[in-house]
Amino acid sequence: MNGREWDLLDEVFDPTHTASTAVAMVLLGLSGAPSWPWTGSLLEIGCGTGTIAVSAALAGCERVIASDINPNAVRNAALNAARHGVTDRVSAVNSDLFAGLPADERLDTVYWHSNFVLAPPDYRYRSVHERAYVDPGYAAHRRYLAEAPDRLTQGGRALLHFSSRGDLTALRRLARETGRELRLLRSVTVPDAGDVVRHMLWEVTGGRATSSAARLAAEQPCAL
Ligand SMILES: C[S@@+](CC[C@H](N)C(=O)[O-])C[C@H]1O[C@@H](n2cnc3c(N)ncnc32)[C@H](O)[C@@H]1O
Repeated sequence: MNGREWDLLDEVFDPTHTASTAVAMVLLGLSGAPSWPWTGSLLEIGCGTGTIAVSAALAGCERVIASDINPNAVRNAALNAARHGVTDRVSAVNSDLFAGLPADERLDTVYWHSNFVLAPPDYRYRSVHERAYVDPGYAAHRRYLAEAPDRLTQGGRALLHFSSRGDLTALRRLARETGRELRLLRSVTVPDAGDVVRHMLWEVTGGRATSSAARLAAEQPCAL
């Protein structure tokens, strides 16, 4: 991916299985030469192999927390940080969203390429892999919307990578219910498994967070 080699452990979301990780790299301006001002600190929720977290460190982020609820993904991200020589900047943490982080931890960017497929609230995972795609009742999405903006430094940005395989109406309802606003920063449409999927990068604002969307729009007009 992105001209680099990556370790992939068992039971970790495979970035080559669908187009979504490569699209995430494009949405984030991490594909090829960085086209986004990657500086400061980043928390990547749901890091999987750590491809995005490590790429952000290589692009200029000074401090990166790569977190995942899946312990194999945490090990995988640590391996890839070592493979690419960024262990001084990237730490890998096992966490259910923000639950495993210090309460006073604040980041310049918080990002989640989420498990955007909606399942009924009582759905039980049949494999570790399903957790990478499916969020029963959007319970984790509700928590992300509620908590992410309050984890930011002043002027920071809380980002959510969602797709048309998810339920955008339900996401918008959750944003209203949690007092958040969603602002579309970028989107790209790609063929995927015989289908056409629209991937979207949303900024989540509201609460104590200061929207950086206007600043980003001014700095980086979206060419997608
Ligand atoms: C679509 S995958 C993205 C993986 C990686 N960022 C990439 O782009 O290749 C979603 C990731 O979110 C993780 N995840 C799901 N629910 C989570 C939660 N509640 N807290 C933290 N991570 C979670 C999954 O384990 C999975 O690694």
